[in-house]
Parts: sequence; structure tokens; C-alpha cells
Amino acid sequence: MPLVRENIVNMAGYVPGEQPSDISVIKLNTNENPYPPSPRVLDAVQHITAEQLRRYPSPDAKAFRDAAARAHGISPDMILCTNGGDELLSLVFRACVGDGDNVAFLDPSYSLYPVLAALQDARKTILPYHIIGTHWEFPPDIFKLDAKLLLIVNPNAPSGTLADLPTLSRVIQAFPGVVLIDEAYVDFAPTSALALIPQHANVIILRSMSKGYGLAGMRFGYGIAQASLLAQLHKVRDSYPCDAVAIAAATAAITDQTYAAGTWDKIKNQRTQMSVALRSMGFTLPDSFSNFVLATVPAGMAAADVYQRLKNANILVRYFNLPGLTDKLRITIGTAEQNAALLATLKTLIAAP
Ligand SMILES: Cc1ncc(COP(=O)(O)O)c(C=O)c1O
Repeated sequence: MPLVRENIVNMAGYVPGEQPSDISVIKLNTNENPYPPSPRVLDAVQHITAEQLRRYPSPDAKAFRDAAARAHGISPDMILCTNGGDELLSLVFRACVGDGDNVAFLDPSYSLYPVLAALQDARKTILPYHIIGTHWEFPPDIFKLDAKLLLIVNPNAPSGTLADLPTLSRVIQAFPGVVLIDEAYVDFAPTSALALIPQHANVIILRSMSKGYGLAGMRFGYGIAQASLLAQLHKVRDSYPCDAVAIAAATAAITDQTYAAGTWDKIKNQRTQMSVALRSMGFTLPDSFSNFVLATVPAGMAAADVYQRLKNANILVRYFNLPGLTDKLRITIGTAEQNAALLATLKTLIAAP
């Protein structure tokens, strides 16, 4: 008798980006914020007491929900906290998708979605982006779906492109199930779908503290939706999904909006400079609204080879050996110094192909 369910045996697991132990590596492969979290975060972590560790934490991360509600101008019961944004995705899949149900998502987008669909033994409707030059658009089929769950990353990963709110609103109105708008990278974008929540009971927004707030090592994310939808998800979640240290750190981080916004401004400036420099070297890329760019390598070069040669030079970027992405590299925007090192190395690779 098989020890685990057949669909698990037959599926491939998610492969995360490399996390080298050598801290001298210039790490532009997993979209972390290159700047540290707010000093208030370290202060909060250093002031954790033994008593806080002895007790179970707040089951619903109350301090964070109150602080995030103030930051977003919404009510705390519209927020559900999870152990990273990825855990919110698991919750939504478990709550909304049963065996054989249909899940829809765009392609390319977050490569965890097909893995979560396989875990539920769900059917998949994969919607290829319409890519016209460097414009990425939703295919018309997105308005005619019959599925339990639709996942949209916005700004999208790995393209960095952004769908506008009227289009998102039309997609939501046309969709019969739950629409999850994955805003893991929204802090680097000019718009959010937050304003759509009051009009739509079937929408949930994913937020992550990993990118915008420099807390990838802490694991903290949250969902924003109407309280009626979240009440169902609360039944599915772990009793204590967020630990006391993570709650204290994330609360301090979201409270210090001025500091976080300062890092977003620096990253957006660097993104503009990086895009101009890459284009001047012959790379093509869509305008990014995120903290990374998706660059197609110049004719005559192979992305896998550029990836490897950058790695040999101690610089990690992300190469996806997936259909539609094999001629591209996803490059996280780093500090000015990190980006300069990347561009200098790329120049030497282009000079000696
Ligand atoms: C599109 C997207 N959604 C969600 C996440 C999850 O982020 P985390 O679990 O670190 O909060 C990521 C992380 O890389 C992502 O790229």
C-alpha cells in the first residue's frame, strides 16, 4: 500500500531559489529587499521576554492586525496573518479547492501555484499571458472561466508587469469563485487592489513582509478580504500560525512606514537605472513595477550560460528552465553597489561571449 496519497507520489515539489551560506555572494535571485528591516524591528526582537517565549503567542497576531489595519485604513477583522504569504496560499487552496476542482492561473507566474494545485489533486486551467513585444496582457479567456479559484500575481512575477484596476475589477466580476490577488510585490508598484475589497466578497489580497519590509528571514504574511471570507479561512488555519518573535518584528516593521517607504524609493530609483543600463547592453525587458526585472538576453547569448558565468563571478540571479523563460534572467534589484557589480560583470561577458 502506498504510504502517501498517489497525487503526492506523482508530483514534483517546489524548488526554491538558491540560498547560499556564503554571505559574500551578491544575491539577486530571490527578490529579498537589499536593505535591512527598520531599526525598530531589531529593537523589538531584542526586547522579547522569556515570558513571551514561554506562552503561546496571540492566535490571530492581534498586535499586527491592529497596526496593519491602521497602516491600510481598514478594520482589523479584514486581516488574517500567516507564516509567510506562502502559508496564506496553502490556506486558500485548502479552503476553496477540493479533489478534482478547477484552479486557474496565468503563465508565467508564481511557480508555487501548480504545486499547490497538485497537492489538492485539482485540475488546472493555465492562462498564457499575451506577450506582445514587451507588453504582457491577460488573455481574453480570463473573462470566461469556470473554476473555484483564480490566482493573479500583481505586479506579476517573474515579469514585473502590472494589470490596471479597471481590468482587475472586470475579471473579478466575471469570475464565479474566489480571486486571490497576490500582491507580494505591491510595495514597489503605484497601485493596489485594496480599494476593490469593499465591493467584492470573492476577493482576497495576499501581502508579504518578506520583500517590502526586509523580513524574508522572519516568515510573516497576511491576507486582506471581507471579514465574512476570512471567517471561513480562520477555521482552516493552524492554531498559532505566527510565533511571538515574528509578530513583534512584523508589527514593528509595519508601524515604521517612513523607513520602509525610504527603501522602496531607493529600489525604484535603482530599478530605473538598471533597466536603462540593461537595455543599452542589448537586453530587452518590460517596464517593471516590482523589485526585479525580467531581462531577455541579447541575441547570440544563452541565458543559462550567462546565469552560470555570473554565478562563477559570485553573483546569483534566477534562471527558470521553463517554457517561455529559457532566454530570460530574473534579476532582483539590489543596492547601487550590487547592481554596479552585476552590470560590470555583464559588460565583460558581452565583450567575451
Ligand atoms: C508571487 C509571490 N507570492 C508570494 C510569495 C510568498 O512570499 P512569502 O512567503 O515570503 O511571504 C512570493 C515569494 O517569493 C512570491 O514571489
